[in-house]
Amino acid sequence: MRSKLMVGNWKMNGSLAANASLVAELLSGMSAITCRVAVCVPSAYLAQMQVLLSGSPIGYGAQDVSDHASGAYTGEVSASMLQDFAVRYCIVGHSERRLYHAESDVLVAVKAQRALAAGITPIVCVGETQAEREAGQTEAVVKRQLAAVIHANGHCISEIVVAYEPVWAVGTGLTATPEQAQQVHAVLRAQLQAASSHADRVSILYGGSMNAGNAAQLLAQPDVDGGLIGGAALKAPDFLSMLKTASR
Ligand code: PGA
Repeated sequence: MRSKLMVGNWKMNGSLAANASLVAELLSGMSAITCRVAVCVPSAYLAQMQVLLSGSPIGYGAQDVSDHASGAYTGEVSASMLQDFAVRYCIVGHSERRLYHAESDVLVAVKAQRALAAGITPIVCVGETQAEREAGQTEAVVKRQLAAVIHANGHCISEIVVAYEPVWAVGTGLTATPEQAQQVHAVLRAQLQAASSHADRVSILYGGSMNAGNAAQLLAQPDVDGGLIGGAALKAPDFLSMLKTASR
């Protein structure tokens, strides 16, 4: 069985002082936690995480990576730079990047490739918009998004993490029902199985307004292997409560 993986996505939040107190509170609550845990932080704070979290039960990661190796790409951060900070995970293709930075399926697939080549586990986000769900396109959209990543990463595909994040549920307070989440996760699992005999290793996380109140039901679904948590990961008591739920 895959042990649950709970990842906090801090997005563009935090400060040196706020991060230090959040991490201290999380570390002090980790004694009963058996699930895998990580926080994905702004790149500016990776050095701080390396100091605070190295050797701890909390892994850390970035929220994006460049599709280029190096060079004249002002503002971008390469996979080898992330490697310098011993980053374990990197989110790629988050819906906010697809939306505000026009990231395509192919670009996201290349980013996943860059991460994998640097020994970093990409957390590949897929998910449909409200309009796509209403038009009955949910399965087609998530399959198209994942297919690009499978196509570009073939034999390494069992090394990725997938996060199903319905766009309409991210940061809105709306959550997919456990049944809706399971249905999409099962589709993604089948797609991974068709691509790799090791697909059962892949953790498929749910994300989108997951919180201390709804985590248990979502995590009880057979193909929901954990969560990618935004808002609720910024409050230590809430995140710890979800980690406890995932450790049962
Ligand atoms: P949310 O964000 O939990 O605040 O909805 C999840 C995410 O965007 O990863």
